[in-house]
Amino acid sequence: MSDIRVETADRVLTITLDRPAKKNAITDAMYGAIVTALTQAAEDPSIGAVLLRGEGADFCAGNDISMFADAASGTKDILDSNTGPFLNAISTFPKPLVAAVTGRAIGIGVTMLLHCDLVYVAEDAEMRTPFIDLGLVPEAASALTIPARIGHVRAFALFALGEKLGGGEAATLGIANRALPADQVGPAAETAARALAAKPLSALIATKRLMRDAEAIAAALDADQKAFVAQLKTPEAAAAFAAFAARKGPPA
Ligand code: COA
Repeated sequence: MSDIRVETADRVLTITLDRPAKKNAITDAMYGAIVTALTQAAEDPSIGAVLLRGEGADFCAGNDISMFADAASGTKDILDSNTGPFLNAISTFPKPLVAAVTGRAIGIGVTMLLHCDLVYVAEDAEMRTPFIDLGLVPEAASALTIPARIGHVRAFALFALGEKLGGGEAATLGIANRALPADQVGPAAETAARALAAKPLSALIATKRLMRDAEAIAAALDADQKAFVAQLKTPEAAAAFAAFAARKGPPA
């Protein structure tokens, strides 16, 4: 049971993070299932677009912190996990990726959106990238993609101060296309994904390829993975994971 649901309709493959009791925090098995789904969607000519969504109120509370804690304690090597293949799959996915974001989006729940092509967000959504509070560095090439999208100082405030970004602000800053009442987010994203999936696929793929600097993203992923793995082994990171396990949580 990977807590990922995959459904196909109208040439759209929908990937649902289906672990609402844990705010859709992503486990290693979930990363693996997403990689399988994205690989299938990339190869299958009957799929024109992929929609990412979360079950329940929240989109995604980020990487499951127990994975970080296992890596910090040396129990499991994060380089042997499905996170690398996930980051590779989402950052090189050739067809349009559409995201529907409601409630909380934290960590990878935000940084994965910078690899999406259309993003619909709830007005009352709350985005956070509290990497530094966790003793970590931004991942998923977000040290490149977020400043490029919203500027250095705003990005630094997200990463370093742990500032929250509301849905409206995310749309104004260009992280999302539109902020909508929460109950309209899913339908808007589905409509957009279906519209994309009906377009000429080879033109969409070629356009996406032209619009993204694949080399720069791959280099950023490589660099932040090395820094991330190093940070996982620091006392600051171990203390932050222990605090979360003790339910004190990372600093708000
Ligand atoms: N990893 C593992 N478990 C997580 C999680 C995560 N990233 N986020 C939430 N959960 C779990 C909680 O441990 C809790 O589990 P429990 O019911 O077994 O105790 C459950 O999800 C519900 O979370 P809870 O904290 O009780 O809900 P809340 O509404 O008070 O707060 C969050 C929700 C998302 C704000 C809070 O859980 C949080 O800060 N999570 C960590 C986010 C994070 O730092 N992610 C990594 C970024 S790099």
